[in-house]
Amino acid sequence: MLVLCLSATEDFDWAKNNHGSFYYGTFPAGFSWGAGSSAYQTEGAWDKDGKGLSIWDVFSHKKGKIQLNETGDSSCEGYYKIKDDVSLMNEMKLNHYRFSISWPRIIPTGIKSDHINEKGILYYDQLIDHLLENQITPIVTLYHWDLPQVLQEKYGGWQNISIVNHFNEFANLCFERFGSRVKYWITFNNPWSVAVEGYETGEHAPGLRLRGTGAYRAAHHIIKAHAKVWHSYDTQWRGKQKGQVGISLSGDWGEPVDISNQKDIEAAERYVQFYLGWFATPIFHGDYPQVMKDFVGRKSAQQGLGTSRLPTFSPQEKSYIKGTCDFLGIGHFTTRYITQRNNPSGSSSSSSSYFTDRDLAELVDPRWPDPGSEWLYSVPWGFRRLLNFVKTQYGNPMIYVTENGVSEKMLCTELCDEWRIQYYKDYINELLKAIKDGVNVKGYTAWSLLDKFEWDEGYSERFGLYYVDFRNKNKPRYPKASVQFYKRIISSNGFPNQREVENWRRKAVETCSSSNQLLAADPLTSHMEMVTEIVVPTVCTLSILLSAILLMFLLRRRN
Ligand code: NOJ
Repeated sequence: MLVLCLSATEDFDWAKNNHGSFYYGTFPAGFSWGAGSSAYQTEGAWDKDGKGLSIWDVFSHKKGKIQLNETGDSSCEGYYKIKDDVSLMNEMKLNHYRFSISWPRIIPTGIKSDHINEKGILYYDQLIDHLLENQITPIVTLYHWDLPQVLQEKYGGWQNISIVNHFNEFANLCFERFGSRVKYWITFNNPWSVAVEGYETGEHAPGLRLRGTGAYRAAHHIIKAHAKVWHSYDTQWRGKQKGQVGISLSGDWGEPVDISNQKDIEAAERYVQFYLGWFATPIFHGDYPQVMKDFVGRKSAQQGLGTSRLPTFSPQEKSYIKGTCDFLGIGHFTTRYITQRNNPSGSSSSSSSYFTDRDLAELVDPRWPDPGSEWLYSVPWGFRRLLNFVKTQYGNPMIYVTENGVSEKMLCTELCDEWRIQYYKDYINELLKAIKDGVNVKGYTAWSLLDKFEWDEGYSERFGLYYVDFRNKNKPRYPKASVQFYKRIISSNGFPNQREVENWRRKAVETCSSSNQLLAADPLTSHMEMVTEIVVPTVCTLSILLSAILLMFLLRRRN
């Protein structure tokens, strides 16, 4: 009780370094707990039932783009496992499930007037209905990176303004068909990645390396497309459907290396502005962050360019874009230390890039745990800082955490994911502290429900609460220990007290070690498969043959 009262009065203080303290308490009533996925990462069925190609289908089939040349062709086979997966959500008593709609699954070329694929629509109909029957609220992302390939080939994808109308038509089709049942829409997931990794570095589909310009142009069109879809919903659908439209932005936190050094403080602020602020500032305030305009503008001039590589919005566009967000989705995983570093812009534009435009260097503390992805260090306190930044910069908007979680890089199977328990425990606790600071967060989405295709990393990084055995063609799911732990957080709506939370952890780890042994006996599973798929049919055929021979023999003897 004392801990609770003391902590409740504790104010957020940027300079205070009380990173270690744990806050016992509960989330506001009605707080929504969920887990997430995305279409290309989990559905599989890449060429089934009339689905068109997406840029990820094409990209992943090119040699050398994805680790071990893996693809999302079958992935978790989520397309065929609606019931199984919803029962996994039920097991944890999730309040919501966040998934995305594959644009080419329902409009194969991306152009609505070409063709609508009813079989694709039926799949999402069934998924939504089944979620609702189980009291799980669907939170639906319209764009989680799988652009129809035709739109990339014909127009250059997000480089071309014409895509804004096609996206708007796709969104309207979704509102028309699913909007009576879906009340939370996310236009774009993590547009930063789409722009930077898709059109600047080329690590992601469509794999273009348009350094210094590609990311800014893609982002510009994405922001316009988002605003257009928000306005469509607002004028045509909101009245009858009463839902909300937001965007999901990702952002690492940037902490100054030296908090007494003004240059580091400014560099860290710039890091966050070039990341989250790039998209959030136009949407909440109508234009790009001033610091982006200044830096990209100055560097472009030094390179002898007549105009900035950062595009501009007209006054009409600014007021059209400003305020197009009913809730803000935040995807957050990690933090960096930031220090000032000048990148000479040179006289040619070939040396320019989004990264060098920022004039900073990113550092990590080697003591930070990094169990999985190379870039993912566990730094829970950065989460609270980022959420407070959003609160102060954008007028305390309504927030849903749309992604947060940690991966593992394991060659052998491991269901006892203690590090993930630790990550969730600490990050969710920082979220609780942020809510106590007054940040308006309504829900939290663990990323992700299942292990799945992790983009250019293939299947080598596992983010799932559930382990998926990708070697087995049935793609069976097994709960990791973190399922038990997350389930307890949900049922208590927070962290009741130290003893109980410690008990949850102990029990979760105990139960997983037995299931771990089960999985370790994987040869057994393949053995079982061999029994059903090879031995049984062979024995049956042989028995039939033998009976026939025996019958012939008996008949001959009779004659
Ligand atoms: C953000 C992306 O939206 C998601 O698809 C991905 O799995 C996570 N980052 C982890 O890399």
